[in-house]
Amino acid sequence: MKRVLAINTSPNTDGLTATCAQEFLAGAAEAGAETELIHLNQLDIKHCQQCMNGWGICRTEGKCVLVDDFEAVRQKVFAADAWALANPVYFGDLSESAKAFTDRLRRTNIGDADKRLAGKDFVALAAAGGSGGGVSTCLMTLDRLCQHTGQRVADLIGITRRNRAYKLGCIRECGKSVVQQEWE
Ligand SMILES: Cc1cc2nc3c(=O)[nH]c(=O)nc-3n(C[C@H](O)[C@H](O)[C@H](O)COP(=O)(O)O)c2cc1C
Repeated sequence: MKRVLAINTSPNTDGLTATCAQEFLAGAAEAGAETELIHLNQLDIKHCQQCMNGWGICRTEGKCVLVDDFEAVRQKVFAADAWALANPVYFGDLSESAKAFTDRLRRTNIGDADKRLAGKDFVALAAAGGSGGGVSTCLMTLDRLCQHTGQRVADLIGITRRNRAYKLGCIRECGKSVVQQEWE
């Protein structure tokens, strides 16, 4: 059975971002996957300390020196066949918790020390509940994260108040698709 994970990086557990994460997982469950939703803001994820003059031991050893919940979440990403990061668009960028997590995920999986993200299916969900501006810059940041870590972009989906009615259905289909489709 495939495992599918979604991480909500909004402080709201019942807002637009969390709804997007839930729709993605509902689609995956419908296709037969085992699913899990993590609310990142309920966990202790510290910011990268840029240790060792900036490169850190993470580059060679593939792990972070900080002691918090980061490693446990990273292990869940490794264990998943596909995962989605659901991000509320803040100032056209990632939320602060998403930044903290993805900064360290990139650093610990960029070198030769750890290749466990390589080839993994990734879905970026950027939920802009205000004017709707800034979705594209947010998705570009997540696309770049994939390039650095060798993940496969299954989809990059922008959600606004204007398009949410039909995008939620699209996200659900995306959840199904990451379970059903086999890519070379
Ligand atoms: C600090 C902050 C910055 C925001 N910046 C933007 C923005 O650049 N563009 C936009 O459309 N909405 C913006 N919003 C609105 C959020 O995108 C919206 O509140 C979020 O998608 C709702 O997600 P939630 O219900 O999961 O919290 C901002 C909200 C906050 C709190």
